[in-house]
Amino acid sequence: MAAARGEFSSRFGFLMAASGSAVGLGNIWGFPTNAASNGGAAFLFTYLILAFALAYPALMAELIIGRHARANAITALRSIASGPRTRLLALFVGFAGIITVSLILSFYAIVSGWMIAYFLDPLARIVQMDGFASWLTQDAVARNAIFVVVFMYMTIYIIRAGVKDGIERWASRLMPSLIFILVLLIGYVFTLPGAMEGLRNYLLPDFSRVADPQLLVDAMGQAFFSLSLGVGTMLIYGSYISKEENLPTVGTLVALLDVGIAVLAGLLILPAMYVALGAGVQIFDANGGLIAGPGLIVSVLPELFNNMGTVGVFVALAFFLLMTIASLTSSISMLEVPVAYAVEHHKVERPRAALIIGAIITLISLIIVFNFDQLFDLVVTVTTEMSQPLLGLFFCIFAAWIWQRNEVLQEIKQGSANAENGLFWKIWPFYIKFICPIAILIVYFQ
Ligand code: PHE
Repeated sequence: MAAARGEFSSRFGFLMAASGSAVGLGNIWGFPTNAASNGGAAFLFTYLILAFALAYPALMAELIIGRHARANAITALRSIASGPRTRLLALFVGFAGIITVSLILSFYAIVSGWMIAYFLDPLARIVQMDGFASWLTQDAVARNAIFVVVFMYMTIYIIRAGVKDGIERWASRLMPSLIFILVLLIGYVFTLPGAMEGLRNYLLPDFSRVADPQLLVDAMGQAFFSLSLGVGTMLIYGSYISKEENLPTVGTLVALLDVGIAVLAGLLILPAMYVALGAGVQIFDANGGLIAGPGLIVSVLPELFNNMGTVGVFVALAFFLLMTIASLTSSISMLEVPVAYAVEHHKVERPRAALIIGAIITLISLIIVFNFDQLFDLVVTVTTEMSQPLLGLFFCIFAAWIWQRNEVLQEIKQGSANAENGLFWKIWPFYIKFICPIAILIVYFQ
């Protein structure tokens, strides 16, 4: 006997969970630096267009398939397949999604572990454990390994409790806190010297860059990663939405929240970098670009916080708490993908499934930690640049080419009776059938 499926108890709960999945390191770390090194507001502009023209339709495809099937990605895709070949394809795409998202989690947990370590650092200094503090901020295998385990434990703890008592409850607490901390930090950083220069750098468009192919590739990759697409995450969250809910509306709200928080994060990170510049911190790399990789979060910003004196301790605490929250609400959505499959398909009990799958992913994370230079970049590239957009393409193909158009409409009509005459149904089917696949392919082969 399968256990009863979970369901989000309210629109707010779903919005917090889904935007929690979407808003992660990709928004607070990836987006602002991508924007700064790709022509500022020109990137922002391109990103907004791509996010709404390409990523939003793909997001809707996952939500609609998920809610229709009320099942994990593999079962869901198989249920809309039209024959033996497409059923096989469904199996393949679903599995590839599960493997991809598990690997994404395995590197995400490492970076999230750093965020916890950097959050503890100011606390250690307050209680004058200086030795411990410097251990926390030194890039060492032992530290990375320990914090991977800590972070994965937190993720497993939430997923064990299920959709309502785990995901929804925690996302509803954490996401409002995230927005509150973010706004508070922006307000503070704006008062510091140099902030306005950063703002100018972020918001003044260099339109000569808009047609740059690299900018397009970066913006699309950013949009797909940021909306958690292609790996079944949004599909599984969609499967927990009530049949009374208006899908196009909630999908739009998730996209707006995700993009909005990315744009907000830019208002924090860029000004902070230029404040750091004024304080004598190195913010440009050898090629003259802004430091964007791990260096930004684990060297530029901590150096800035150290320069701020006592206030810096609180700013650092707030900032790394923000990063940890953003990570956690995303990591739970990643772990939910394989766990839902194990629970529904193999009838494993949820707590057990969460523990076993979480442990396997932790193990993979540790293998990466111990072979960081060989594996880390490789796993990031293969999962986010190669696998994710390609799988996103297949989800579009399933929604537009394989699934019966009339069934799609019937699903949307639940919760939105008049959908047939609405704007969404006028535009989306065409987009998802032609524009999205072609655009993904073009960018993919760049
Ligand atoms: N959207 C998350 C972020 O921006 C990452 C993510 C990718 C989450 C894939 C779930 C699935 O950080």
